[in-house]
Amino acid sequence: MISFQALQSVADVIVARRRLYKQRLGLCHLNAKSIMPLAANSIRNSLKSRSASSHSANPKDTDQLRPSATLADLRRAASGCRACDLWKAATQTVFGEGAAKANIMLVGEQPGDQEDRAGHPFVGPAGKLLDQALVEAGIDRSEVYVTNVVKHFKWSPAERGRRRIHKKPHYSEIQACRPWLDWELEIVKPQVLVCLGASAAQALLGKDFRVTRQRGKLIEFSLAPHVIATVHPSSILRARDDESRHSQMREFVNDLRQAARVVKRKRSVH
Ligand code: URA
Repeated sequence: MISFQALQSVADVIVARRRLYKQRLGLCHLNAKSIMPLAANSIRNSLKSRSASSHSANPKDTDQLRPSATLADLRRAASGCRACDLWKAATQTVFGEGAAKANIMLVGEQPGDQEDRAGHPFVGPAGKLLDQALVEAGIDRSEVYVTNVVKHFKWSPAERGRRRIHKKPHYSEIQACRPWLDWELEIVKPQVLVCLGASAAQALLGKDFRVTRQRGKLIEFSLAPHVIATVHPSSILRARDDESRHSQMREFVNDLRQAARVVKRKRSVH
């Protein structure tokens, strides 16, 4: 059991840290109450060397997690995750994939219909567009790690037909899933964290973050040495015509090039 006092003190630390970010970046208006779920996660994370059983249907899965846990350990543990109800309607957990020591981590919102069936992130239409944008930005997908803030597909049935319609995850579902992403960050330790779309950006950078205002900019944030937010590739797929799609794609590629430049600079220093 995590005591209220412990939660309160961790919450205070996080609030103080957020205040600093707020001053620097004009981000999020958080108070001790709204930060409680984050504090609970921080504590759970700090206990992870002992167990992360609260995130799994089967405590045995996560009992195996130690500070030296690998992505494979995590994936195995997350496959039984019951931290929120999304697993019930989803086919499977879709965990992140890619190079274990990737320089760039790309984070989307949640797996889509095809990802849910395949069990792999970004393999559907948005993933194909992302692949193309990465190529154009000079980034090899084998050098990146791709994941989502929520690891189960949230959907509702279409009024007609058998289509499964994507539903935006609730804050509580994002919070429930958060420890997996924190683990991924801790293991991969990317140089650049790229938030794809408003859901991922707001989940990671605060609910007041606006991709429209800050896209493509290097942001100072504690999650990684460099953080960049850009649009979600699926928004480009929804462009109203070819011209708009091409210009949105160009901007998206430019944002990704920013990430590539950081990595290149870092490489040239070493
Ligand atoms: N959209 C996402 O945000 N993630 C995926 O994995 C696929 C589509």
